Amino acid sequence: MAEFTLPANSVVKKGKVFKAPDGAKKVRRFVVYRYDPSTGENPRTDTFEVDLEDCGPMVLDALLKIKDEHDATLSLRRSCREGICGSCSMNIDGVNGLACTTAIGDIRGDVKVYPLPHQPIVKDLVSDLTNFYAQLASIEPWMKTASATPPDRERLQSREDREKLDGLYECILCACCSTGCPSYWWNADRYLGPATLLAAYRWIVDSRDEATGERLDALEDPFKLYRCHTIMNCAKVCPKGLNPAQAISETKKLMIQRKL
Ligand code: SF4
Ligand code: SF4
Ligand code: FES
Repeated sequence: MAEFTLPANSVVKKGKVFKAPDGAKKVRRFVVYRYDPSTGENPRTDTFEVDLEDCGPMVLDALLKIKDEHDATLSLRRSCREGICGSCSMNIDGVNGLACTTAIGDIRGDVKVYPLPHQPIVKDLVSDLTNFYAQLASIEPWMKTASATPPDRERLQSREDREKLDGLYECILCACCSTGCPSYWWNADRYLGPATLLAAYRWIVDSRDEATGERLDALEDPFKLYRCHTIMNCAKVCPKGLNPAQAISETKKLMIQRKL
């Protein structure tokens, strides 16, 4: 795993300034975190002047323009540019979010772009989410059944049971919530974090899943679930409007109910 870097918005040295071309009409400055662990050099921020007259409206548009026109070595993840794949998550103007759905026009002053906080850095804006994905895998996020599969149809679910998954299934695993959670910052090795706990709850409440007890048993641990202190950063930053804190709270309730 790559080495840890400074948290987002820590003071890092200023690097190069890339000027806008002559004649640019609507210049905006993007201050972008740069770090390549393989060089042994400290992180820095480079400043890129972008002509917004000739750029799409989202932060991702500007970053791709920077990569195309100023510095092709800038590294970032993106795929769908529609807020669906979750890969362009980063820290923009001090808040975790998706670069493709964050409008440049909603940010005042210089646009500061950092990787997701408190994660190891692969390069520049690409954080190493190995631990995040391993934690997700650990809760076995798929339907588990013991009964025989119906021979002639899918496993059906009532409308009411299906509605219980609303607000859960929409997660795009961008990691904005987990990497914005103070409890996760300090205990990422043992606390599962809001995204993984939301995914766990999504399967716990699925009426078709037959491993509810086993799933709750697996979360009965002083760290995995109980490090959530209801600070609510997760719900504030989720670009899909989900509320992992509520899913965590419901899971805790189920833990209590099954002991009564
Ligand atoms: S509510 Fe829980 S999971 Fe959400 S940010 Fe706070 S401590 Fe983290
Ligand atoms: S709950 Fe929201 S912020 Fe967290 S991983 Fe899912 S979509 Fe991203
Ligand atoms: S590029 Fe897919 S969510 Fe932003």
